[in-house]
Amino acid sequence: MSTELLEVRVERRANEAEDICSYELVSVDGAQLPAFTAGAHIDVHVAPGIVRQYSLCNPPHERHRYVIGVLRDPSSRGGSRAMHDQIQAGAKLTISAPRNHFPLVDAPRSLLLAGGIGVTPLLAMAETLSAQGAPFEMHYCTRSPERTAFRDRILNAPYAAQVRFHHDSARPLDLPALLAGLERGTHIYFCGPAGFISYVKASAAALGWPENQLHLEYFGADAAGAPVEGDQPFDVKLASNGACYTVPVGRTVLQVLSDAGVFVPASCEQGVCGTCLTRVLDGVPDHRDLYLTEEEQAANDQFTPCCSRSRSATLLLDL
Ligand code: FES
Repeated sequence: MSTELLEVRVERRANEAEDICSYELVSVDGAQLPAFTAGAHIDVHVAPGIVRQYSLCNPPHERHRYVIGVLRDPSSRGGSRAMHDQIQAGAKLTISAPRNHFPLVDAPRSLLLAGGIGVTPLLAMAETLSAQGAPFEMHYCTRSPERTAFRDRILNAPYAAQVRFHHDSARPLDLPALLAGLERGTHIYFCGPAGFISYVKASAAALGWPENQLHLEYFGADAAGAPVEGDQPFDVKLASNGACYTVPVGRTVLQVLSDAGVFVPASCEQGVCGTCLTRVLDGVPDHRDLYLTEEEQAANDQFTPCCSRSRSATLLLDL
């Protein structure tokens, strides 16, 4: 994983829809930015101690800028609120180089399904597929036209005819009908809040869609990690030196280890990015992340200490 950090300037900030702004980032010294592929995201160091992931939504061939879209999340733990309230044109930001956990694969046909601000990585995918002349269609679901970011950009894009807009208020997406009419070789890419992801997953599963043709990324606002009723304290033990630490209710393994001087790389701290993934040698994790697949969680041999807890009294970690 690249840990390269870059200094960028906000060249332009624009209102894209109700509570959604885009930020165009350029390097402070005018140099080209590292190349990226559709589906990539960057970490944005929004404020001291606040790092958030945002997908790049501009055409991936561009090297002079990165464009991100940020929804002001009413349940924000500080990230999106700080972006909206404090980051104006001209502001300088530290970001990571792009990383891609959500890449396009070679496929005879692609379906892009966007839920709300989850449209951002799919915009970059639409740009790439369109430039390649690859067959695809995109469906973009939002609550209303006023909350539909990048609408004008899409309507003026070369692929505009391949995009359908759906609003909860009118013409919501009939996903089972859409999937039933698709070629079975189609790869489906979907990104949005947890409810949207569950809906797409369940609809695809009901039709027996092969799992390896489903590619998803959660939008972090619904990410995991909040305390849950019934949480209990538990211990984590480090395999390297036998040190044992108690994780109380209301604190994460990551926080406890960090306080003890045990470094575990982390980024989103919401169970979304997978940066903190740690091997579990013994014990049964209580998975609270949105990163691992159900099969990976069921294997119980790794977990995300930023949000997941333990079902057993002790977890032995490969640290
Ligand atoms: S830091 Fe992102 S999943 Fe744990």
